[in-house]
Amino acid sequence: MKTVDINNIKIIIVDNYEQMSKKAAAMIEAQVLLKRNSVLGLATGSTPEGMYQELVKKYQENEVNFQDVTTFNLDEYYPIASDNPQSYAYYMYEHFFKHVNVREHYQNIPNGSNTNVEETCQAYDRAIEASGNIDLQILGIGTNGHIGFNEPDVKFEAGTHLVELDEETIEANARFFEHIEDVPKQALSMGIRNIMHSKKIILMASGQNKAKAIHAMLRGPVTPELPASILQLHQDVTLIIDEAAAGEL
Ligand code: F6R
Repeated sequence: MKTVDINNIKIIIVDNYEQMSKKAAAMIEAQVLLKRNSVLGLATGSTPEGMYQELVKKYQENEVNFQDVTTFNLDEYYPIASDNPQSYAYYMYEHFFKHVNVREHYQNIPNGSNTNVEETCQAYDRAIEASGNIDLQILGIGTNGHIGFNEPDVKFEAGTHLVELDEETIEANARFFEHIEDVPKQALSMGIRNIMHSKKIILMASGQNKAKAIHAMLRGPVTPELPASILQLHQDVTLIIDEAAAGEL
């Protein structure tokens, strides 16, 4: 393991995906031990799958208890029903919620089936604020530098909103669907404002295909063209990345 700081961001470089997952799970465990009623911001996709597995193991071994934890997921496809196996609600249930004791009413995911998008987004922002804002936000990163589904050209001041997914994102996510045409074209996502209001942020990345985005977010200018670059302006961000994702630093 190596540690380095670049542009106000703490970076932990580990050998591989497994180590990345273990480090992130250890930080969530510590967060929940230090503050039992933590508000966690959660991500989906391939990157955090190993982290969820580690957390489930810790829960089963009685190392961590999620009884008083509240969770807010970053995003959800739109439109989609929560029982659709492609939905992020389903992902969260399968990878995490069905194995641990986060109470159902404390699990929050943008509602991809309410046709009143405005209402969904406003309710989500209000719920995050009412919780006292997120204590620890987990992020992945898109190959185009997106965080949540905040795609290039994002408005930094936005709260939860409806997003038109980038071609690059649709192509990247096609691996989860039978046909690329099946990938939803829109999503609901927490905005950069919600993410920046989190007290702590952990961003994970693994693999060479993330190296360009990691380099740009750390070394490049802060720009809406590369949404993750805004994290240079947050006071408490830790990156946990493997050697391959750190390859261009
Ligand atoms: C998903 C999310 C996205 C992903 C990103 C990377 O909730 O917030 O920003 O983190 O698209 O996806 P993976 O991990 O599948 O490479």
